[in-house]
Amino acid sequence: MLVTGATGRVGRAVVDLLLDAGVPVRALTHRSEAAATLPANVDVVTGDLTEPESLEAGLQGVGAVFLVWIAPPATAPAVVERLAAHARRVVFLSAPHKTPHPFFQQPNPMAVLYADIERLIAAAGLESTIIRPGMFASNALLWWATAIRDSGIARWPYGAAETAPVDDRDVAAVAALTLYQEGHAGGDYVLTGAESLSQAEQVGIIGDVLGRRIKFEELSPDEFRSETEGSWPRPAVDMLLAAWGATIGTPAFITSTVFDILGSPPRSFRRWVADHASAFMEDPTPSVRRPVLAPIRQSHVRNRSPIVIC
Ligand SMILES: NC(=O)c1ccc[n+]([C@@H]2O[C@H](COP(=O)([O-])OP(=O)(O)OC[C@H]3O[C@@H](n4cnc5c(N)ncnc54)[C@H](OP(=O)(O)O)[C@@H]3O)[C@@H](O)[C@H]2O)c1
Repeated sequence: MLVTGATGRVGRAVVDLLLDAGVPVRALTHRSEAAATLPANVDVVTGDLTEPESLEAGLQGVGAVFLVWIAPPATAPAVVERLAAHARRVVFLSAPHKTPHPFFQQPNPMAVLYADIERLIAAAGLESTIIRPGMFASNALLWWATAIRDSGIARWPYGAAETAPVDDRDVAAVAALTLYQEGHAGGDYVLTGAESLSQAEQVGIIGDVLGRRIKFEELSPDEFRSETEGSWPRPAVDMLLAAWGATIGTPAFITSTVFDILGSPPRSFRRWVADHASAFMEDPTPSVRRPVLAPIRQSHVRNRSPIVIC
């Protein structure tokens, strides 16, 4: 099994889960030095989604691929073509861009990209399973950890906007299972947490778990735009604001798919916070990954996934 995005939030967990299941794993890293973060018994190859030919070595003898797309759209046709030349099955980490809920139906260039990749996968005759997670619970780290550590105040827009954060580990567990278990060909899985929580409630839960009161200070959309100017890509900010704004008053879209696939309920947001509490208390060491918001353009700071409106 080839795991792309193998040093990322989901891919890294998929590597461990496949190893635990006794499945031979090959991990694709984008930066060679990242190989050091992977278990010794993993076959590590380097490759870059923006250079399709660089994936050739990693695809030799591969039966299935976990595809995490972190690159501009241009090379997607060539990459999918190469995948189909070697592998029978692909599990694609996409987003719920087909879900009829206001949160997911706002203008979103990432949704267009994912729909294109899904069409390419179908046209290539690959056996596919599409994984569509909603908001990752770990986004809370990117969004609030620094402010919570430094000031105890989360200054954020749309406190009443409800989402159903899904634990990245549950996403990885579904992805790993669909990679080696038969019966998921054609699967299209929207994954959410089990609770519809407003953003203010999510911050409240973090405070609860940390045993300290964290103030949620509501920002207007324009205040949020000016606060994120220069550090977050404007298209991502506009996408997030449009989705949060559109979902006010509507409970989050919730599915039972994590339970249906894994046979166990999704981890709660409170559980995710409890398992990551240290990151909200002391400045994380460099080894603790935090996604960096990258512009939806060629040049990526560290090639972390831009925050998509799932
Ligand atoms: N955040 C959410 O709420 C959410 C919701 C739904 C879907 N998603 C989707 O989830 C995906 C992100 O997954 P994640 O959070 O697990 O990833 P992540 O933590 O952001 O890590 C990105 C991974 O991609 C690798 N990578 C970056 N650029 C690459 C390139 N040019 N070629 C090959 N590999 C490259 C990185 O490798 P290096 O470490 O070596 O750079 C790293 O392993 C995105 O497609 C995103 O749209 C996110």
